[in-house]
Amino acid sequence: MKISFITIMLLLSGSLWAQKEQAIISIQTDQFKQVISKHIYGHFAEHLGRCIYDGFWVVPSLDVPKEGRIRMDIVNALREIGIPNLRWPGGCYADEYQWRDGIGNPADRPVTINSNWGGVTEDNSFGTDEFMKLCDLLGCEPYLSANMGTASPKDLRDWIEYLNFSGDSHLARLRAENGHESPYGVSFFGIGNESWGCGGCMTPEYYSNQYRCFQEYARNYSGYPIKKIACGPNSVDYNWMEVCLKNIPHHTLWGISLHYYTIATGNWGKKGSATGFDEKEYFGGVKNALYMETLLKNYSAIMDKYDPNRNIALVVDEWGIWTDVEPGTNPGFLYQQNSMRDALIAASTLNIFNNYSYRVRMANLAQAVNVLQSLVLTDGDKMLLTPTYHIFKMYKVHQDANLLQSSVSTADYQYGTESIPGVNVSASKDKEGKIHISMVNLHPKKTIAAKVMLNGCSVGQIKGEILTSVSFNDYNSFDDADRISTKEYKKFKKEDGNGIHVELPPLSVVMLEVR
Ligand code: AHR
Repeated sequence: MKISFITIMLLLSGSLWAQKEQAIISIQTDQFKQVISKHIYGHFAEHLGRCIYDGFWVVPSLDVPKEGRIRMDIVNALREIGIPNLRWPGGCYADEYQWRDGIGNPADRPVTINSNWGGVTEDNSFGTDEFMKLCDLLGCEPYLSANMGTASPKDLRDWIEYLNFSGDSHLARLRAENGHESPYGVSFFGIGNESWGCGGCMTPEYYSNQYRCFQEYARNYSGYPIKKIACGPNSVDYNWMEVCLKNIPHHTLWGISLHYYTIATGNWGKKGSATGFDEKEYFGGVKNALYMETLLKNYSAIMDKYDPNRNIALVVDEWGIWTDVEPGTNPGFLYQQNSMRDALIAASTLNIFNNYSYRVRMANLAQAVNVLQSLVLTDGDKMLLTPTYHIFKMYKVHQDANLLQSSVSTADYQYGTESIPGVNVSASKDKEGKIHISMVNLHPKKTIAAKVMLNGCSVGQIKGEILTSVSFNDYNSFDDADRISTKEYKKFKKEDGNGIHVELPPLSVVMLEVR
């Protein structure tokens, strides 16, 4: 039997069409919700593995562009994504960190042990002044994490005086001797980290009493008010949030934190590989990441009960996917590769944060360099940008833009007996009036044909950008560092006055800019 070319084309397009699913995305463009705080796009750098040492802070002999010992190729990459704040020095490390160990002549600084992370020697060459210099180079705000576990309210008081006092005092003079005459004017301060666990194994009742005392000595020196952030719950510990909001005077709280990590297998003992995983673990990863929405819904409801005017920020200051470490690396260093799955998790989580920005006003991905869901990986003088980095670069447009109400009706992505929404979205309007719509297709095989309805405006010029890859476990390696990166995207067309038809390929993040 002879089959004509046209018949083949018809059969092919028919089967392609059969692979397509539909989604309707509706966006209200003329009613502004709240501003999406740029601080939602924050990052985290702990003294852990190769994040600070052999990450941001390198040996003088390493042949890379440096400012002192700060690695400038990393700094320049993070400047490109508009990093708004950086959290330091931990994490669990914060509750053992004595800030005085990290100031003054490096040769005189004590050598200590990092007992949380591999028991390695800490020479304290990277301390407060070095961190402040790093933030200055990055053009971001510092977010300091204060030690409640093994330090006193006096240590916190003194650290803030060292950082912020502009008058004459022993500690202000010490800062000047260490090279910084003017105060740094730090505002974000977390008080205790994971105080329910590595930060002191406290009950919420005990923690909230401790917080009341510590925060009292977090003084506002020289016109620099401290934005105090209490240690909030882990994952689903709703009682911790309730107790803290009942016991802590609200005027002392700028925010309260939440930590939630995605474990693809759901099993902390066997978290799964960062790159060698099948569809079951892909599905588990994205499904567990989307659980962030349930957490934010539930925590927002609790917070609304105690703080109906929504003065207190929810600060998700540790989030991201946590996998097994790369084979052959130190288990205490938490070094993991970063795949297309991680990019989809980052994009979906940022969509959730945007949509909950009435309560979430700050968040910090764990962690910036060489640890957990990193933006940047290094190997000697080599550096690569992960798929997650490219998401932050793409989503920069949402920082400080007005959230637009969006809704999506989409086919589910089903795996076995479970299912999750195939597509998620957020949208915003920036100060120049440009609308940005970020859309994620989590389905590994199906292209989604989406109809975007922009209610309240007519569509003018459209530009598109995409991040995608053939397989969910593709990644950027030191030999193929640009395998996954953003590209211009044109598979959209205007429909009627205010509609856009857009094709969302499998495993893709598409950003449309509409004028
Ligand atoms: O980000 C790694 C660790 O995870 C942090 O030190 C701790 O706060 C959390 O358990």
